[in-house]
Amino acid sequence: MNDKERIAQHAALQVADGMLVGLGTGSTANCFIEALACRSREQGLKVTTVSSSTASAIKAQQLGLTVLDFEQVKHVDMYVDGADEVSPELNLLKGQGADLVREKLLATASEQFLVLIEANKLVERIGGRFAIPIEVMPFAWQLVKKQLEANGGLGDLRQNANQNGYALSAYGSLILDMRFDERMDAGTLNDLLNGIPGIVEHGIFYRLATTVLVGKDGQVQQRQIGNL
Ligand code: 5RP
Repeated sequence: MNDKERIAQHAALQVADGMLVGLGTGSTANCFIEALACRSREQGLKVTTVSSSTASAIKAQQLGLTVLDFEQVKHVDMYVDGADEVSPELNLLKGQGADLVREKLLATASEQFLVLIEANKLVERIGGRFAIPIEVMPFAWQLVKKQLEANGGLGDLRQNANQNGYALSAYGSLILDMRFDERMDAGTLNDLLNGIPGIVEHGIFYRLATTVLVGKDGQVQQRQIGNL
């Protein structure tokens, strides 16, 4: 078993009977979906799920999990997802997969937000490694980019995988990948991006994670808000 599978299993053990569980998106989230389906099949764990993406919903359904329509959900017990960067304060950078809107809705609505990472995702500063993904209304991208540049941002629209056009988010937004000066901390950036009209959502998940499980060399370390 590799570290990703180990943290996914650890997370699945934290799910209790009757919970409504939010499913993340990406390779780590996929390992969690498999581990949760395995507990449900082999130990009779009764859960319902809601998914942050079509891809995760299909995977969960194929493995026999019940997936609710997003519109039906008023409350989520636990949301489990990966991340691209995690800071010492447990702020996150997410969104390389462009499913940010549902991901942040689930992160905000959940009683517990459990983040699963391998140790190489730990960073000193959010945005230190990856550019910050910023979903923008297509007609607004030039005005948004200008505002971001006025605040020291550097970057451009994300290209699609074939490099022959622009990438679109799951709901048709364009994505600006922007880097900022290292003096801009996660809280400052979060406030800035939340305040610019035309931005649909962005990849900084500020003070949303409740627990982070870090996998390294066969061990799982748990970091919790209030216990850093
Ligand atoms: C998707 C995400 C993913 O959780 C993040 O990119 C990590 O992916 P992986 O588990 O494949 O490394 O934020 O929007």
